[in-house]
Amino acid sequence: MKSGEKIIDENRQGEALILPKSEKTSKKLFLESYGCQMNFSDSEIVASILTKNGFETTTNFEEADLIFVNTCSIRDNAEQRVRNRLNDFKRVKRKNPNALVGVLGCMAERLKHQFLEEEKLVDLVVGPDAYRDLPSLIEQAEDGHKGVNVILSKEETYADLTPVRLNSNGVCAFISITRGCDNMCSFCVVPFTRGRERSRDPESIVKEAKELVALGYKEVTLLGQNVDSYIWSGGGLKKEILSEEQKASSVNFAQLLEKVALIDPTLRVRFSTSHPKDLTDDVVHMMAKYENICDYIHLPVQSGSSRILEMMNRGYTREWYLDRIRSIRSIIPECGISTDIITGFCSETEEDHAQTLSLMEEVKFDFAYMFMYSERPKTLAERKYKDDVSEEVKNRRHNEVMAIQARNSAIGVERGLNKVHKVLIEGTSKKSQEMLMGRNSQNAVVVFPKENYKKGDYVNVLVTKCTATTMIGHVVSIA
Ligand code: SAH
Ligand code: SF4
Ligand code: F3S
Repeated sequence: MKSGEKIIDENRQGEALILPKSEKTSKKLFLESYGCQMNFSDSEIVASILTKNGFETTTNFEEADLIFVNTCSIRDNAEQRVRNRLNDFKRVKRKNPNALVGVLGCMAERLKHQFLEEEKLVDLVVGPDAYRDLPSLIEQAEDGHKGVNVILSKEETYADLTPVRLNSNGVCAFISITRGCDNMCSFCVVPFTRGRERSRDPESIVKEAKELVALGYKEVTLLGQNVDSYIWSGGGLKKEILSEEQKASSVNFAQLLEKVALIDPTLRVRFSTSHPKDLTDDVVHMMAKYENICDYIHLPVQSGSSRILEMMNRGYTREWYLDRIRSIRSIIPECGISTDIITGFCSETEEDHAQTLSLMEEVKFDFAYMFMYSERPKTLAERKYKDDVSEEVKNRRHNEVMAIQARNSAIGVERGLNKVHKVLIEGTSKKSQEMLMGRNSQNAVVVFPKENYKKGDYVNVLVTKCTATTMIGHVVSIA
């Protein structure tokens, strides 16, 4: 597994998104997204707003009238990738001087007006809470006035907008349940780019899930930077200021999960990301109660050293994290667990690093996203600590982390051998048109011969072989 290779979560690398055709106009939009699933989800909101305003999309940026890049700031290399990509768009401007280039998302929020000065070809800079303003900003830019809106909101959840599902397989969809983050992990830029945490009205979430079911979708993933802190109390109030009475009538994450699970027993429910300091046993019990809530938790640990966790401002210790894992496994013994790990955070010693390795050996994560620490402007770590682990050492430690994870992932996959797995079929396998792929409840990828099955079907697959990352088998019955 390569580091930073997040397929459905973080760090997807620039995918052009295809919108349905609009009949109103021939204006062509090219929309490309980077970063985490929340950003991809936001692109579906942007698509919803722009299709209503008469744009149709193209996958060829050379013919576009409007080029939008939805950007990520999480690590320096994520930003560099976007900067390089902007160079490609210069060609379009040369050919068609009326073409507009817009930067959306986290880099737009982080750099604000500065972006216009740094990258002359950019006409629009729009932060994640300002997408409703896009049509008027585009109009303004068409009149030759560069447009910037990077105002962050305490309320915006785009709850009333129906996302236009982009590049969807028609089986799995993502539903945003919270926006922003209040955690202030010292390494992280997200609180600065996404603003304060706010939860979305549960009724609008249930409505969106029901609409997806009606369209034939079979799986929803509830998205938030920290889904466990979801709370709805009528008007999106923060839990710290709720009275006991308001708390009693509010909806927390476990209750939201139940509401979504009850919509349809054949709709799978997943969620991401859980925070170790906030993941309660109530949530895990709710997962155990409903068969259609998948037995899978993404629980980023970041480091195995309590000293580093304290400096990261994560709000838990190594022991607390291990206790959470024990608790999950005592309630759901077969639960799939994945994580995120940062190597080379400020002042990380060999001893701290060894603690990360030993935690990985102890937990045996099924999957991990692994990163080298990248200092981000304005974060607590940038202001308080020195980025003093050399690139060489970061790299070596990162390789050691990846080597352990490769072994542990393989062990996880092998555990699935000679067992029957209930799989939701997502489409054909990347490697062969004759094979289908899907995932089991624990989120492991399962591949098997197509026969007469099709995407959206649930099948029971007996796994007889595996590679380092994939289970291979054949269907034994319809599930
Ligand atoms: N909300 C999620 C994570 C969002 S960012 C959570 O709290 O876990 C996704 C991952 O990127 C983080 O879990 C972390 O591992 C990594 N990351 C964030 N900032 C980083 C930085 N400055 N350098 C390297 N990795 C970072
Ligand atoms: Fe960043 Fe921490 Fe918030 Fe995750 S919980 S988005 S790592 S500040
Ligand atoms: Fe996501 Fe990157 Fe922003 S990880 S929240 S797109 S900084």
